[in-house]
Amino acid sequence: MSSSLATVAYIAAIILFILSLGGLSNPETARRGNVYGMIGMAIAVLATIFGPRVTMAGIPWIVGAMVIGGSVGLFAAKKVQMTQMPELVALMHSLVGLAACLVGFASYVDTSIVLTGAEKSIHELEIYVGIYIGAVTFSGSIIAFGKLSGKIGGKPVLLPGRHAINGIAALAVFYFGYAFLQAHSPADGLTALTVMTVLGLLFGIHMVMAIGGADMPVVVSMLNSYSGWAAAATGFMLSNDLLIVVGALVGSSGAILSYIMCRAMNRNFISVIAGGFGTGGGTAAKKKDGEPQGEVTAISALETAELLKEAKNVVIVPGYGMAVAQAQHAVFEITQFLREKGVNVRFGIHPVAGRMPGHMNVLLAEAKVPYDIVMEMDEINADFPETDVSMVIGANDIVNPAAQEDPTSPIAGMPVLEVWKAKTSIMMKRSMASGYAGVDNPLFYKDNNRMLFGDAKKTLDEVLTALRA
Ligand code: TAP
Repeated sequence: MSSSLATVAYIAAIILFILSLGGLSNPETARRGNVYGMIGMAIAVLATIFGPRVTMAGIPWIVGAMVIGGSVGLFAAKKVQMTQMPELVALMHSLVGLAACLVGFASYVDTSIVLTGAEKSIHELEIYVGIYIGAVTFSGSIIAFGKLSGKIGGKPVLLPGRHAINGIAALAVFYFGYAFLQAHSPADGLTALTVMTVLGLLFGIHMVMAIGGADMPVVVSMLNSYSGWAAAATGFMLSNDLLIVVGALVGSSGAILSYIMCRAMNRNFISVIAGGFGTGGGTAAKKKDGEPQGEVTAISALETAELLKEAKNVVIVPGYGMAVAQAQHAVFEITQFLREKGVNVRFGIHPVAGRMPGHMNVLLAEAKVPYDIVMEMDEINADFPETDVSMVIGANDIVNPAAQEDPTSPIAGMPVLEVWKAKTSIMMKRSMASGYAGVDNPLFYKDNNRMLFGDAKKTLDEVLTALRA
């Protein structure tokens, strides 16, 4: 393939990737967005393999690597549970970081690249920056994977003087960068590169270890952004325009997503990175002075069905527990039943409900819940006072009134779905345990709140049977 044909193919792939990102912004067009992305990637891979920079002798190597990589990817994607998706994504990001490091070292020792003067300095700077971003992304993503999969505790690990340690490490990276650019021999250059790589790896570990469980979603999207910049840096090293553009697309969309998630959790991006917030989560709520106490009122599936039958307006708020229980199909059947009886049923989706962006939208779409009754938090929050029943299905942090009522709460200021403003709120969960952020929820004790204890799928099936009876 001639180089101009490869360029045209790259431009087509770039357009498809942009269309893909546009499509993924809305559940109705997400499927199409995915298809654009797949076609774009197929074009990109083919144009690279048959492009001017790959010789015939290289093709068997590429095909071999693709078969191995593709098989591992296929196996992982088939095996992974929906709730394990964030950790799989974190693991994938680590591979982008590792690739950036390997490409960086390979470009440095590649004797076929002969550059002089400014061109040489620019190329070396690309290598240095690319390897550093890659090393931070690699080790940070491995730690994020460990935390999300529960292999490493969710509590932030805070070393004494950690900001000073990071500052000194940053100065050392600049110093070795200078030494690398001034190196008189490849051996000196390699030493500086290796020291910087170790510093980058340690910084990635230290940064993510200091971040608490509650902030992990932001960290995953931030590492997603880093992996994009690592890919863009690799593109610079290899003079590959497609990789630069795609890396920049991933880098900037990851940064925008991190910002949106920080806003949804009322967290400041800098303080997320600085770490120290949040706990392991999922613990039984402990009582301290001044924390919500009181009686909780339990309700049965039968009584829930009665309340739903009498309601005119119902808002369902799903959370992580609905995903764990795989209760989305039961939710759909109840929704359909009530809508046929003339009840106005809608869904309220918090931006960080579940464990990954769009988690609830994906599950509801899978269960065929119509898109037009699935509302975002800002669209539905004002309607709770006119709602007869708000049904919280396996959600906890995202409906915690302490975010608004208790300025000392760790989640104070986080925007939440105001389900307690409905005439009756029903909270479906198995126990009194706290949610991901590990904070108690005063909603349990509110006069108009009822607790429907049990596994969400099992309880919803009982509610459905009672409705139909
Ligand atoms: P959580 O606050 O984690 O609450 C989920 C609740 O579901 C738990 O309290 C649990 O209580 C209940 N549950 C678990 N299994 C259940 C089952 N089989 N049946 C019924 N209930 C079950 O979830 P949320 O309200 O969706 O909030 C999300 C939290 O995760 C936020 O803190 C957010 O910051 C964080 N987070 C979000 C993301 C993204 S991007 N969405 C990623 C990582 C973390 P029981 O144990 O008593 O049943």
